[in-house]
Amino acid sequence: MLQTDQNRAKYRRSLAKATMDTASQSPTESLAERAAVVQTRGLRKVYRAGFWLNQKIVTLQDCSLDVYEGETFGLLGPNGAGKTTLLKILLGIIRPTKGRGTVLNQPLGDRSVKQKVGYLPENPYFYDFLTAHEFLKYAAGLFQIPHQVQRQRIPELLDLVGLSQSSARKKQLRQYSKGMLQRVGMAQALINDPQVIFLDEPMSGLDPLGRYQMREIIFSLKSQGKTIFFNSHVLSDVEKICDRVAILARGELLCIGSLPELLGSADLYQVKILGGNPDVLRRWIPDLEFQEGHWQGHLKGDPQDFLASLELMDAQMIQMNLARTSLEDFFVGQLRQRGITVSQ
Ligand SMILES: Nc1ncnc2c1ncn2[C@@H]1O[C@H](COP(=O)(O)OP(=O)(O)O)[C@@H](O)[C@H]1O
Ligand SMILES: [Mg+2]
Repeated sequence: MLQTDQNRAKYRRSLAKATMDTASQSPTESLAERAAVVQTRGLRKVYRAGFWLNQKIVTLQDCSLDVYEGETFGLLGPNGAGKTTLLKILLGIIRPTKGRGTVLNQPLGDRSVKQKVGYLPENPYFYDFLTAHEFLKYAAGLFQIPHQVQRQRIPELLDLVGLSQSSARKKQLRQYSKGMLQRVGMAQALINDPQVIFLDEPMSGLDPLGRYQMREIIFSLKSQGKTIFFNSHVLSDVEKICDRVAILARGELLCIGSLPELLGSADLYQVKILGGNPDVLRRWIPDLEFQEGHWQGHLKGDPQDFLASLELMDAQMIQMNLARTSLEDFFVGQLRQRGITVSQ
């Protein structure tokens, strides 16, 4: 327990440092400097279905993206968008119908890359009668990790994912809750100390505390400089964790970028004004409109200068709010623009 607390404190310190380091770099600077860890160009996947295999299901089309070293990248999309398909192509589990790509500078499907990547599947399968410890030893064996290294790494991983050492040795996996199994899955994904970690819906089915803990684990990996590629349809998780996001719908990438790039800068203000001359106000508020006895719209220009000039305009400020679009509004807007129906 003490060791866990110490690890968490250590992680928080490194996280604070990582946040400061990131904050001091401009996004364009850091992207240009970093190496692309995942790169895809024009990926397409078509499944054949039906009795005669004569139906084509286009699951992914013209998918091109780059994920950079040390980045937490979120692939967002509704169910059936093609997220898992893309992940499986990157991992070499399935082959694309068309297009190419690299992971850690090796072509898709290259076996040597498997040593350096971790994967938490959407619906992991566990051997019911093994304990977590036995399961992790088994996973370590697949990577031919020496016993000496295993003895150190397995307890460290159990600590990181918040599983107690004693129950990991005693309890069989069939007795674990969904949240605990997800942690075992995460430990398994990290057993080979991977450089890139692919997580397919890591928060699905977890309660709020479980989601929080999973986020903490992801932050901890991020602070160690790992590249994380994660799929999700839960916008709030993505908003909290990711450096950059892409939205995938019906197999097509709709947009890709950092949150400020997609949602606009954080200093867009919505203002409500009482009184004043509309012609003068419009110079500051181009989308000015009159509603319920006051003027309102989005402020263009420096807020300090605007506040200072209000008195001269004989106007009064009633309200001033930050007006950045939420990721949810942006996401729904993107889907609607393409005629993809979104149920209310
Ligand atoms: N093996 C398969 N055969 C036929 N269709 C498939 C297969 N795997 C996935 N699909 C279809 O591809 C689409 C995208 O699936 P998937 O990648 O699992 O989406 P997501 O992970 O975004 O929910 C779905 O319509 C799904 O039914
Ligand atoms: Mg999926």
